[in-house]
Amino acid sequence: MKLGLGSIAPNFNAVTTNGPIDFYNWLGYSWGLLLSHPEDYTPVCTTELGVVAQLEKEFKKRNIKVIALSVDNMESHNGWKLEIEQAMNVKIGFPIIADETAKIARLYGMIHEKTSDKHTIRSVFIIGPDKKIKLHLTYPMMVGRNFDEILRVIDALQLNDQYKVLTPANWKQNQDILIDPKLTEENADNLLPSWSTKGASYMRFAKNPKKN
Ligand code: BEZ
Repeated sequence: MKLGLGSIAPNFNAVTTNGPIDFYNWLGYSWGLLLSHPEDYTPVCTTELGVVAQLEKEFKKRNIKVIALSVDNMESHNGWKLEIEQAMNVKIGFPIIADETAKIARLYGMIHEKTSDKHTIRSVFIIGPDKKIKLHLTYPMMVGRNFDEILRVIDALQLNDQYKVLTPANWKQNQDILIDPKLTEENADNLLPSWSTKGASYMRFAKNPKKN
């Protein structure tokens, strides 16, 4: 089964550096950020997990639970986790799944045979409290992910979830949002009365409702 945006993120049981979990129980009503990485004790992955640990407060503020995965075993994860903490001067609070049989990696399509028939590529899944996949990104092995961008998308997704508004290219928290073209003028007035058009009639901008 191919997972796409709007698909239900499949549940699984896993062993992790924080103990065994049932994914859905562990998520509860939070949003989830599921990250796969190719291999333990590798430089790009070390910077990535270090940066995720540095951003822990930002994820918490947004009600996001982070979980990482690779097909390496628990002994390897535990040793590597200590090295990341030293190398990146962080504490890793989020769990890292030891998916030794690649059961979860295959369930989520994280193994791309043309890259490696054994190791996961760099997948990113953002999962909503309704357990639906809200974003899926695939990065190649040699490129570390941009976690500022991932936070930016989370902000945009959560704004859409709460207010049904859209966000323009390169949008950031303090910038204007766009009103869904499907919304009638009357409904737009009810939602955000201060909206105005810029450039074209269907480009209806308004202040970020969270900043009002
Ligand atoms: C890295 O994370 O640095 C890496 C992962 C897989 C292959 C090569 C490098």
